[in-house]
Amino acid sequence: MNARTEHTNKKKSISSNTLGEFSHTPLFISNCLVFVKMVGYRFFLHTIQWIPKMGRKFCPRCGSENIKWILPQEWSKWSCQECGYTGPLIIEDGEIGEKIRENYMKKQEAETIQRCGEEDFQDIYEIINDAAQAYKGEIPEDRWTEPYMPLEELRHEILEGVEFWGYYEPELVGVMGVQDKGDVALIRHAYVLTWKQGHGIGGKLMEKIKTQTDKPMLVGTWKAATWAIRFYGKHGFKEVDEETKNKLLRKYWRIPERQIEESTVLTLL
Ligand SMILES: CC(C)(COP(=O)(O)OP(=O)(O)OC[C@H]1O[C@@H](n2cnc3c(N)ncnc32)[C@H](O)[C@@H]1OP(=O)(O)O)[C@@H](O)C(=O)NCCC(=O)NCCS
Ligand SMILES: [Zn+2]
Repeated sequence: MNARTEHTNKKKSISSNTLGEFSHTPLFISNCLVFVKMVGYRFFLHTIQWIPKMGRKFCPRCGSENIKWILPQEWSKWSCQECGYTGPLIIEDGEIGEKIRENYMKKQEAETIQRCGEEDFQDIYEIINDAAQAYKGEIPEDRWTEPYMPLEELRHEILEGVEFWGYYEPELVGVMGVQDKGDVALIRHAYVLTWKQGHGIGGKLMEKIKTQTDKPMLVGTWKAATWAIRFYGKHGFKEVDEETKNKLLRKYWRIPERQIEESTVLTLL
């Protein structure tokens, strides 16, 4: 064997050794895969399931994940695109978030009409004063006040026996009051949030209230509120003549003479 052949053989043996090492590599990888399959598969799945839950944020009111920072104004405040919640509170615990969501959806399915409670006082106040914007520019200027119904007046009305019924979605969006006056029942303060008007909410409240009394029902409203007169007309109420109206308003209501002048009364006998 000359030097040249010896060199070639050395080269061959090196390359066959090297090849031999690599020829074990596929086995190593497949062993790894078997290991991952047998031991790590469950752990792997578990981790994958948790990745999307990491960093999840839920609205504290409706459990929606469709929430955003109020930018650029406030980094610390969140706003829910679904229920309109805005505030600093946010739920980061997936389990609690999902529970809130579940309860909210259940309530959402069951839109209800219920007697309002003390806890609804502030919402009633806001609904009345939002819906009453319809009067602005329609009723005589000297009868318009801002807010239309102050808190104390609303409190007074409730103490005088006005019982409010509410339409819940599940947030309160519309109210209608009923006041027992012995031989008759008065409809008092029918208001639906402006952006919710014209979708049948007032109508459903009216039908519910009708089932609560056998007495003749009276309602008073501004002469200028032609839409409200139409609304009561659709529900069977008939407008009375001027003289009867004056008598009824003086008998069952406590309102100033000026308001009597500008009002009308409808009855459902
Ligand atoms: C009057 C009121 C309580 C009725 O509730 P609502 O949920 O809008 O009423 P509904 O959707 O059941 O009925 C709509 C009907 O009411 C009348 N109506 C009153 N306001 C309306 C509005 N803003 N948009 C559409 N319809 C209105 C229409 O006659 C309509 O009849 P139509 O369906 O034949 O068009 C509500 O519109 C409201 O809050 N208005 C402003 C305040 C007010 O006038 N209150 C009455 C106090 S006495
Ligand atoms: Zn929300």
